[in-house]
Amino acid sequence: MCGIFGYTGGKQAQNLVIQGLKHLEYRGYDSSGVAIQNGAKAIHFEKTQGKIRNLEEILKKHPLQGKTAIGHTRWATHGTPNDLNAHPHLDNHSQIAVVHNGIIENYFDLKQNLKKHGARFRSETDTEVIVHLVAKYYKGNLENAVRRALKDIRGTYAIAVICSKEPGKIVAARLDSPLVVGIGREENFLASDVSALLDHTDRVIYVENGEVITLSDRAVSITDLSGKPVKRVPVKIQWTITQAKKGGYPHFMIKEIFEQPEILTAILRERIQKSKIIFEELKISAAELKSVKRIVIIACGTAYHAGLVGKYILEEFTNIPVWVDTSSEFRYRDPKVGKGDLVIAISQSGETADTLAGIREAKMKKALTLTICNVLGSTMSREAKGVIYTHAGPEIAVASTKAYTAQLATLYLLGLYLGNFLKTLPEKRFHALVKELFRVPSMMQKVLDQYKKEEKDWAAKAHDFNKRYHAQLEKYYKADPEKRKRSPNGFFLYLGRGINYPNALEGALKLKEISYIPAEGYPAGEMKHGPIALIDENPWVICLAPQSKTYEKMISNIQEIKARGGMVIPVVTEGDKEIYKLKPFYTIEIPKVSEILSPLVAVLPLQLIAYCVAKEFGEDIDQPRNLAKSVTVE
Ligand code: F6R
Repeated sequence: MCGIFGYTGGKQAQNLVIQGLKHLEYRGYDSSGVAIQNGAKAIHFEKTQGKIRNLEEILKKHPLQGKTAIGHTRWATHGTPNDLNAHPHLDNHSQIAVVHNGIIENYFDLKQNLKKHGARFRSETDTEVIVHLVAKYYKGNLENAVRRALKDIRGTYAIAVICSKEPGKIVAARLDSPLVVGIGREENFLASDVSALLDHTDRVIYVENGEVITLSDRAVSITDLSGKPVKRVPVKIQWTITQAKKGGYPHFMIKEIFEQPEILTAILRERIQKSKIIFEELKISAAELKSVKRIVIIACGTAYHAGLVGKYILEEFTNIPVWVDTSSEFRYRDPKVGKGDLVIAISQSGETADTLAGIREAKMKKALTLTICNVLGSTMSREAKGVIYTHAGPEIAVASTKAYTAQLATLYLLGLYLGNFLKTLPEKRFHALVKELFRVPSMMQKVLDQYKKEEKDWAAKAHDFNKRYHAQLEKYYKADPEKRKRSPNGFFLYLGRGINYPNALEGALKLKEISYIPAEGYPAGEMKHGPIALIDENPWVICLAPQSKTYEKMISNIQEIKARGGMVIPVVTEGDKEIYKLKPFYTIEIPKVSEILSPLVAVLPLQLIAYCVAKEFGEDIDQPRNLAKSVTVE
């Protein structure tokens, strides 16, 4: 939800800020802008609607000179995504500029009050009150003015502020929106996420809630809201810049899909040593784990789907009952959790507002909290009692792929760890599962290699779908022109059973996110209770049917769909002869894997289907409309 970037040092700042913002574009891409200090009386700035390339075009014609600058890429909350609402926002005299990520809840009252005192508002945003407040309190010291302004504000923020009267200085602050300082040589940086800093440095400071930062080229000072100095030591980040680049792939999404076998291998090597599961960073004691009577998993979107798979894993390995909830439902319904409950929050970013609020709610109610997250030093990793990092590396594509399989891998490892520790998982099974887990990366690789071999075929199928999709729509509209006003008749249905049911949800989510084609994930057993009414020759029905205890049932479902003319694409275990007798439209085979581990392999074709269809439809795969990678607002 919005990305901010700041630079102060000896170099021209404009292009550094643009480059930083491009790394953050996944956080929002409704508009972008940059404000620069250049010794003039007023701050110079440019901002515009749309992606960062629009801003770049403007800056090519009107470059901004100066060595201290702040920039912003926006995901709109208050006010439509137009030029005026784009950040930065400036005070009446254009001497102070602000960029902001978060929401100011009391902005309306503040705005009325500031207007009475002469503030001229140009936008509909909540952010603009910040700059007018800072201007109101400015008496020659920007840091003090920011600190004073923050006292009036209720809400969440990561802000960066510059003032034309204080050259070379950026003042920043955070409350519940992420902010990281990058330490350079005679230059310093600020960003919403470390991936934007990797081009310049691997030494960072994660800004904590309630801290105010003042950056100049040679110094970084940290104070709390009362002005008391805070001592912090920079940490070294392990992620590399190559991980954050496309590396020859046309899109981040396909690069990240192909990274999955390697990531899984690295996770297993790190976590399994001499047949023991190691979670060095866990911070939860054996006694605390022994007291767990129930596990509650909270998460959003893809991470929620990983949580649903986690239920099957943890219940089977530990015998502890597991509940799974979307974070937004959990936090608002006075959840009955407390002592004896382990609340696991799963999140790629570690910043999702609802999941974070869920952790706080659980902590307040005395439950034990653990987060499984990808981003080192993220808010969740600091607020939950325990943390397990998924080590998937930076995930840039908005649609999550490798973070999902890394979350699954971590849940398997956690299940094995707990099952072994609580003695609910027999030794023999533990070792057999560990052994098989190590074979899963090569199974994943096989699926990807097969895709590479058949890529043209997949593209042809996606093209065929595209043609049918539009032909069908035309036929539909021709028969009854009034129908144009209603929703289109093309969609995908994803069916799965047992531990692959969450994968059906995930496959449908991937497709709708990046191709905007309606898609629904359903437990196959529920098909007769409604969705079967949708079946004709139009939708693609993706059926997850690897070998499992419910395979026969899945075959019956496929027969039912075929009987109604449906276009079935089954995902089956290699060597399955039965399936071809049903004459599916297209069959995808995956290597033989035990049912419990199958989601790790079976999800790959679903990610690839979504990718191929979105590519065929010419959509913006890495940055789909209306979405943002990290949802730091409710
Ligand atoms: C889907 C996707 C989202 C996220 C969700 C949670 O591809 O990326 O559904 O999974 O917004 O985000 P995190 O995992 O950062 O909490």
